[in-house]
Amino acid sequence: MTLPDMTGPDMTGADFLRLAEEIAREAGDMLLAKRPTMSGEIETKSSPTDVVTALDKASEELIRERVLAARPGDRILGEEGGEEGGDSGVRWIVDPIDGTVNFLYGLPDWAVSIAVEVNGEVVAGVVNVPQRGEVYTAVRGEGAWLGSGRLRCNTGVPLAQALVATGFGYFQARRAVQGEVVAQVLPRVRDIRRGGSCAVDLCSLAAGRVDAYYERGVNQWDFAAAGLVATESGARLEGLGGRPVSPDFALCAAQGLFEELHALLAPLNPERDA
Ligand code: IPD
Ligand code: CA
Ligand code: CA
Repeated sequence: MTLPDMTGPDMTGADFLRLAEEIAREAGDMLLAKRPTMSGEIETKSSPTDVVTALDKASEELIRERVLAARPGDRILGEEGGEEGGDSGVRWIVDPIDGTVNFLYGLPDWAVSIAVEVNGEVVAGVVNVPQRGEVYTAVRGEGAWLGSGRLRCNTGVPLAQALVATGFGYFQARRAVQGEVVAQVLPRVRDIRRGGSCAVDLCSLAAGRVDAYYERGVNQWDFAAAGLVATESGARLEGLGGRPVSPDFALCAAQGLFEELHALLAPLNPERDA
């Protein structure tokens, strides 16, 4: 791929996407190549079930190097390395592997997620799902894509017919509440899916493979890129009560289903951890 001058101040969302996509593809290729040789290099983070492998760190290092080589003044927020960098007004939001548990077990739903935020607004996002050979992209105001195919989320699906993706955090107390909440949702929908990657869940919603998604406790690096893919596919992504999406809560679906699911979830008080 031939890249334009990536150091200038005049990059468009599409320019940022080209750079982000090239870097996400390189990281994905590295992960695919090295996963079979992965051995024993596993640590835990926030809880005994929250794993990080040497390859999560290697992927983030590669992404940081490539971003800073092209755009030395930008900031980078990455799940493994935190936030640092300059004050260009551009911030890269990176999950080097979203779905590390799937990655560890050889399940295909894990992704390299890179979003580019300009002056506080995400303008471009890429979610590379290497083991599926799928690259999801979006540019603010210009649509969402799987490869060369434009994405449109499902619309007009009533709650009772909805296939709903969700996820569970790494803390026992939070999981206990999430179990209570999902027990109330399950009898009222078509079915539940727990895919294991927030980014892939949101891209699946954009592609019409699920109808809705909700989760408590996901972070910016989980949803920044895929959230743009989902909203550019026509979905609404917010927290509860009209608040912006945040680690408190993420709810995503086309408008009518969003409202129905919100009406079911909000009284369950799912933003508590005990
Ligand atoms: C996790 C995945 C998972 C979600 C967790 C996330 P990680 O990210 O997105 O689907 O349920 O809340 O933390 O740890 O694999 O990067
Ligand atoms: Ca993640
Ligand atoms: Ca991660």
